[in-house]
Amino acid sequence: MNFVSHGLSLSYEEHGPVDAIPVLLIHGFPFSRQMWQPQVKVLAGQYRTITFDNRGHGQSEVGDGQYPFEWYVDDVIALLDHLKLQTTVVCGLSMGGYVALRALERFPERFIAAILCDTRSEADTNEAKIKRAAAVGTIKEKGVAVFAEAFLQSAFAPSSFQKNSNSIEFIRQIINANTPLGISGTLLSMAGRTDTTESLNRLHLPVLIMVGDKDTITPPSAAQALRGRIPGARLEIIPEAGHLSNLENTRDFNHHLLAFLSTLSA
Ligand code: MLT
Repeated sequence: MNFVSHGLSLSYEEHGPVDAIPVLLIHGFPFSRQMWQPQVKVLAGQYRTITFDNRGHGQSEVGDGQYPFEWYVDDVIALLDHLKLQTTVVCGLSMGGYVALRALERFPERFIAAILCDTRSEADTNEAKIKRAAAVGTIKEKGVAVFAEAFLQSAFAPSSFQKNSNSIEFIRQIINANTPLGISGTLLSMAGRTDTTESLNRLHLPVLIMVGDKDTITPPSAAQALRGRIPGARLEIIPEAGHLSNLENTRDFNHHLLAFLSTLSA
């Protein structure tokens, strides 16, 4: 199914009972909504589970590759409006968390709880911006597959290369299915995002933070900083997981996800 936001047709899916608590899952970069498969499986029995492809990713349109970061937030609100949902639980991983945090800052009234996975509130440092510029160069000169291999090395915990090669192959295919324009456009968009740290102490909703203990992209220290600033937030460190904690240790990730959500329905 599709909805339109800022001129692009964006693709989404819904599973589960329509009258249940809605849970909207926002994927990370440069993936697609497919990355949430192991969560959709366990959520759909009890929750109205909504996944979508961020602009420039998956089955959503790529357009001209110019994506102001604010538009990713506008896309979330456009989807809620399209579904006639006044409020939802939001769950975002990494870039999905950047989008969720900015959406919480701009539209706090649209969210009843938040799950922030392998993410941070700080904007890019100068060093991070320079790395994004280099990544755009790699994609243009060498292609997405070369970029993808380097990304996989930094995203997954070393142990996942032995124990969880299926998840690595799954993510490799997802990345390689995206276009150079969509990936480069999103890199530049993330480099231009705002810092949401200052608004964290104004979040007054239940928040669960999760992070892989071996995440080097958005490390546990970033998650601890979030927990320190968000009133009442709960932090779970997922063992034996890197940046893709939902795939690298699905059992623990899903356990904490479901336990947190059950406190909302109680
Ligand atoms: C992601 O997984 O969304 C990205 O690694 C985030 C980033 O590059 O900052």
